Amino acid sequence: MRIIKSINYMQNMALTQRASGRSIGLVPTMGYFHEGHLSLMRKSVEENDITIVSLFVNPIQFGPSEDFDIYPRDLERDQKLASREGVDIMFCPTEQDMYPEDFKTSVNVEKITEKLCGASRPGHFTGVLTVVSKLFNIIQPHRAYFGEKDAQQLLVIKQMVRDLNFPIQVVPCPIQREEDGLAVSSRNVNLTPEQREAAPALYKALAKAKEEIEKGEKNAGEIKNLIEEEINKEPLFELEYVEILDKTELEKVSTIEGKILIALAARLGEVRLIDNISLEV
Ligand code: PAJ
Repeated sequence: MRIIKSINYMQNMALTQRASGRSIGLVPTMGYFHEGHLSLMRKSVEENDITIVSLFVNPIQFGPSEDFDIYPRDLERDQKLASREGVDIMFCPTEQDMYPEDFKTSVNVEKITEKLCGASRPGHFTGVLTVVSKLFNIIQPHRAYFGEKDAQQLLVIKQMVRDLNFPIQVVPCPIQREEDGLAVSSRNVNLTPEQREAAPALYKALAKAKEEIEKGEKNAGEIKNLIEEEINKEPLFELEYVEILDKTELEKVSTIEGKILIALAARLGEVRLIDNISLEV
């Protein structure tokens, strides 16, 4: 596996590979790999001739009081893990090269970025879309892999790809979970043992909601109450939002039918966790 830092070098190399007829899969990440990242890499390796993983902790998608400084980093470990999955290239640009002093552009998607995580993290999705656009232009992959764990991020990126005609197939990948149901996340390492023990309550609440819906409950208000009650049983949680939305426009629904996303965010001390399930009723 090769490590490439230079944007120019990466861009030229990707263009050459593309011109010689090889398919390129891109897995954008912020590193500190776990099973979620590795599952994306595996899918890309399976589906493409060349897999490029980008590793860049993108400063512009973090708010001023967020965890950019304590975001976990371990390049050496990440290299080993990616190499073991058969990744061909790890692209690790520097902050100065990605955002030189005279950088002035941002990419935004309207409306669907204002809800859920967008409401509590102003500017976050613009930061994500700007860096993902740069990565798409540097690497020009045939396919790009994103996890359903970040359901809103995935929808927003799909929208941008459609709106701006990026000739790229966005490939959604299922949420990877620990045995007790907690969605795997780089931030889980910052949980204390007590918080870690409480954390699976999020998934359990979502699973219970799914069960009720499968039994025939169609009232979104009832399901929302049930999830909130389940999570509030665990006093360590500070619930940020629970929303039941239609999966395309992210509009709140009162009746559960069609393609539905149930998404939530909650804090355990300093750690912000998100989770979601998708249903088709
Ligand atoms: P990061 O949090 O490192 O996640 C990289 C990719 O891994 C994302 O597509 C995310 O949805 C996916 N992922 C994370 N946890 C997962 C899990 N438990 N199961 C399945 N997939 C999972 O998301 C970002 O980085 C950044 O916002 C990025 C897109 C790289 C832009 O900076």
